[in-house]
Amino acid sequence: MDKLVISLGGSVFTDNPLRIGFIRKLAATVSELRKNYQIGIVVGGGALARSYISALRPEKVNDNVLDEIGIYATRMNALSFTSFLDNINTKIPTTVNDAVEMIGLYGCVIMGGTEPGHTTDTVAALLAERIGARILINGTSVDGVYDSDPAKNKNARKYSELSYEEAIKRSIVSSVGAGPSVFMDLTSLVIAKRSGIRIYVIRGDEIEEYKNICSTGKTGGTIIG
Ligand code: UTP
Repeated sequence: MDKLVISLGGSVFTDNPLRIGFIRKLAATVSELRKNYQIGIVVGGGALARSYISALRPEKVNDNVLDEIGIYATRMNALSFTSFLDNINTKIPTTVNDAVEMIGLYGCVIMGGTEPGHTTDTVAALLAERIGARILINGTSVDGVYDSDPAKNKNARKYSELSYEEAIKRSIVSSVGAGPSVFMDLTSLVIAKRSGIRIYVIRGDEIEEYKNICSTGKTGGTIIG
């Protein structure tokens, strides 16, 4: 069976607190894709992680502790998502190793973060590498990778394709510290590069994109690889 990993940005999943309508639709899509794919889904921390991290950072809380707090948020979101799927893990794995075992049991696993120092994008890339997935879909709040912030620059240009090297250069600029970062964190791109994992950066709530990518290999977002 083919393998697929989805990194779902927490901002797509949460909205004070959860985007239930979207989560239902995503669960239905995942259930369909499970017929043809073994799937790993890594859920981000979103508003929950951000609110805690931004409240504690001015109090000079250690970055490692902030990361740990972010990880708890990702796991709360991951556990929430399991409630919308049948025949799925009931415990959230804390390592990629454990996640792989759960994929063996259920054909699908939902998880969050693992350890401090990176984001769920890296967890997704490690999981993809480990199970031999050729495709990693990164569902974010923006519909691809742009040459500047499209929220601030109306002339921002979206890339339809980016090489690993170009993506790495763009990521280096702003991936420092706990909390929200760029379209994908640096480590995840390095892992994707070394194992030739093709990354699709899409707007995570464009449900049709997941099926389109799996059936055609094409996207309205950005392909890195
Ligand atoms: P996210 O993966 O959601 O980070 O994890 P993000 O990319 O900053 O945010 P969104 O959701 O895509 O908008 C939230 C935070 O949890 C910590 C990091 O501090 C991260 O910023 N984290 C997460 C870890 O330290 N390790 C992990 O494996 C995952």
